[in-house]
Order: sequence, then structure tokens, then C-alpha cells
Amino acid sequence: MAAAPAPDLDLWFTASAFLVLSFLVLVMLAYNRRRGRALRLPPGPPGWPLVGNLFQVAFAGKPMIHLVRDLRLRYGPIFTLRMGARTLIVVTSPELAHEALIEKGQLFASRPAETTIRCVFSCNKFTVNSAVYGPEWRSLRRNMVSGMLSASRLREFRPARTSAMDRFVERLRAEAEANGGAVWVLRNARFAVFAILLSMTFGVQLDEDSIVRIDEMMKRVLLTISPRMDDYLPFLRPLYAKHQKKVLEIRKEQVETVVALINRRRAILKDPTLEPNAAPFSYLDSLLDLKVEGRDSAPTETQLVTLCSEFINGGTDTTSTAIEWAMARIIDDPSIQAKLYEEIVAEVGDRPVDDRDIEKMRYLQAFVKELLRKHPPTYFSLTHAAVEPAKLGGYDIPPDANLELFLPTIAEDPRLWSSPLEFNPDRFITGGESADITGSAGIRMIPFGAGRRICPGLAMGTTHISLMVARMVQAFEWQLHPSEPKLDFMDKVEFTIVMNRRLLAFVEPR
Ligand code: HEM
Repeated sequence: MAAAPAPDLDLWFTASAFLVLSFLVLVMLAYNRRRGRALRLPPGPPGWPLVGNLFQVAFAGKPMIHLVRDLRLRYGPIFTLRMGARTLIVVTSPELAHEALIEKGQLFASRPAETTIRCVFSCNKFTVNSAVYGPEWRSLRRNMVSGMLSASRLREFRPARTSAMDRFVERLRAEAEANGGAVWVLRNARFAVFAILLSMTFGVQLDEDSIVRIDEMMKRVLLTISPRMDDYLPFLRPLYAKHQKKVLEIRKEQVETVVALINRRRAILKDPTLEPNAAPFSYLDSLLDLKVEGRDSAPTETQLVTLCSEFINGGTDTTSTAIEWAMARIIDDPSIQAKLYEEIVAEVGDRPVDDRDIEKMRYLQAFVKELLRKHPPTYFSLTHAAVEPAKLGGYDIPPDANLELFLPTIAEDPRLWSSPLEFNPDRFITGGESADITGSAGIRMIPFGAGRRICPGLAMGTTHISLMVARMVQAFEWQLHPSEPKLDFMDKVEFTIVMNRRLLAFVEPR
């Protein structure tokens, strides 16, 4: 049995630890004061020593996505929040977003440093979304776009998409039949999108149980990398040692699951007769012999795991969240449902809608645009960082600050939109309003971000949303389930922005 430490030694240890900690706090305070004097950061609420505004935000009584609107009223369209060791600069207006992403796009095209946990999952920032602005990011992004997200690749995957949509409608039909017409929208949409992205990533057909198992694992990964207190206060890290162990276990599980899929694809590439139904091409194929600028060798096994996971996760929650909001809007306003259905009947008839039809469907396009304006699946764009000391709106932005773009206030700016809080797809048809969703012709709504780091999945994301909405309306008439109270458009954060109350619909086959 270990002997208890002598009391005087214990006292010595505590006293020295206290002295060291006090010294560090004083150094940090002096550093922050000097830095604050030298730089003219955007205004923001006064903070406390060491923790800054962290506790004010954590105990504000409302989530950050709602608090931003209050802070904006008080401090203006750009403000600073000191969250422990991190400085957040929040941009909420179209003018400043334009300055950051378009006018000074190159300057603000990088990403900030990651937490140690995120670095485990991103292989030290070896992904399109986390890489700092430079040759490595360019190679990875170019490959993702030309390898999988270009218009021609999107066309090549039409048969896989069509059969995934057929399975989606059948799944909804079976769930409705088994439950007296009741269907959970988000769960089904998420499953369908996840299945499509899995098949695009590995080019293999997976049964339902395997898809569910992989999905559960990926959700555990996303939960593990969600922000925690020690991300802001690194000196608390020793208290999270147990979590660190869990992180490595989950990473191991992710590597084992995804490597099995990588090996399966490798075997098919060697001998296509093994799985004649396998897709002729997959995202993984483009990665196997990828030449990344500045690196001598192709990606390693764990880097392949990371890049494949990025592709699957990037598009799953974003797209499926949008479907849940879409169906809530369709249920809420029967005239929208009627117009969508009439257009389907007029343009397509009885045959199942496919992605070629979408180009002709003006009302569907207007609906999807209004959906992404009013319900962007993420309220904050991915965090940007300056490549060198920079200015934004006349303020200093140091390279180690996190630049956060808040998207809803841009898309609801009353100077740019008429009745911005109303959900009205007709604004884009009879209302004469317009918006270039890429932001290159002026920033009015940017659900996919804008500029150099704009979402590369923009075309695929909008195609999947349009197609799923069209197929859902073509196959069923949608209502709120009678057991549910009135529709509630309250939002909350769950990886993306989801409905606070899950949507339970009642469907009848047409
Ligand atoms: C409705 C669907 C989607 C929405 C709303 C969405 C939204 C976004 C947003 C806001 C960003 C941040 C842009 C910035 O940093 O300024 C982003 C980046 C990204 N998205 Fe998407 N996304 C969607 C679908 C997809 C899909 C389907 C994929 C891929 C399969 C994807 C992959 C990525 C990647 C890799 C990045 C990082 C780009 C970079 O840093 O260069 N997204 N997305």
C-alpha cells in the first residue's frame, strides 16, 4: 500500500502550485493588457480576468445562436467575445461578410488552430475543411471537387441517387403503414442522405444494419469533438484525462470501421467480379493515389479514414436538417404543398422525379432557396482565420482570432429583403427578389459561405434537398400528426440547427 505523503511536503506542494499559478495568471493578464492596448479589436462586453466572457456566455440563459442577436444590438455588426484563451470576432452584416470573404478573401481564407482532440480526428488538419490556407488545402479541395462534386460526377451518380430515392420513399411508406400514417422526418431523411454519401465515398452497397452501425459510430465521433470547457481554458485539461482516453478509443473504432470499407473497395478495384453491383467510381478511388502538393507520398491509411469521414459527415446533417425544416414549412402552409405538387404533375407526371427535372421546376427552386434563406442548416459558417494581421471594418483582426460569420442576420437584413421574417418562396418569382446563393454577385444570403472556402458541396446539397422534397411531395400528402401540438419553428443546436421539437408527420399516399 502506498504511504500517505508527509503533511509538510503536501503543504509545500500546494504553496508552490499556488505561486506558479498566480505567476502565470499575472503574466497572462499583463500580456492581454499589452495586447489589448496595441490592437484595436471590435467592441464587446467587458470580461473577467482569465476567463474573459466565457461564463457570461455560458450562463446567459440562452444559447449562443440567440445571444448573438442581443450582442449585435448592443455592440454593432462586428463584436469581440473573449472566451478564455480564444478570441472570437463575430461578423453579422452582409457588408462586413463581403469585406471578409470577397474583398479580402485571400486574407481571411485560413482556419484557426484546432484543439488536440480535433487534431486526432483531422490527422493534424489534413482535411479540406480544417486545413490552413495553402498548397495542402488546395490539393485536397481540388481533388474533392473534381473527384466527386463536379457537375459531371454528380451526373454519373444519377442511377445510385435514383435508387437511393426509391428506397427512401419505400422506407417512408413502410414506416407509415406500420404506424397508422406516422413518420419521423429527420430520422428517415438522415438515413437516406447518409446512405447516399456512404455509397459515393466507397462505391459499395451496404445493408441497412451496416449503415446504422456506421452512422452510430460517426455520431459518436461528432459528439466527441464538440467544444468543451478545456478548449477555452487549456489549464483545465488535466481534469479531462479520462475523456482523452475515450477519444482515443473512439478514434480506434472509427479507424477500424472505415479501414474495413477501404479494404473492401481495394479488393473490388483489383477484382471487379467480387461485387458486380459496386459503383464504377468512388471518392475513395480519387484519394488512393492522390498527390498532395508539398508531400512525397499518397495519403496514409488513417489519413484516408479522415478524408472519407469528412466527405460523409460534411453533407449528412446539413442536408437532412434542411429536409426537416422543409417539410415543416410544407405542412404549415398547404398552399406551398399544392403549388409544389401541381408543378410536379405539370412537369413530370407520374414518373418519379429525377434530378434532370429540377432544372425545369421554378417553384421548387424558389422553395429551396427560401428554405436555405430562412433556415440555413448552420448559423455560423466554419470558423475563418486571417493568414496575417489584418483589418476588418476598420478594426484589427489578429491571426490567432477566430472569425465567426453569423448567417441568419445576413439573410434577414431588412435593408435587403422585403418582409424578411416571412417564409415566402414567391418572393423569388412574383416578388421580383433575387439572390446569388454563392455570394459572388453580392452577399444577400450565404448558407454555404462565400469566397475561397465556400462549401464545395453546394451543388450536391441543393440537388439532394430538391430531389428529396420533390419525391416526398410526389408520393404523399403531408400533414402534422394529430397527436402533435401546433407546429413550433423554434430552433436548437445539434451539430447543425434542428427543430427544437422533432417533426412527426402524418402522411397519406397520393
Ligand atoms: C445543405 C447542405 C450543406 C450546407 C448548408 C453546407 C454549408 C457549409 C458551410 C456554411 C461551410 C463553411 C464555408 C466557409 O468556411 O465559409 C461549408 C464548408 C464545407 N462543406 Fe458544406 N454544406 C452542405 C453540404 C455539403 C456536402 C454535401 C459536402 C460534401 C459531401 C460538404 C462539404 C464541405 C466541406 C469539405 C467544407 C469545407 C470547405 C473548405 O474549407 O474549403 N458540404 N459547408
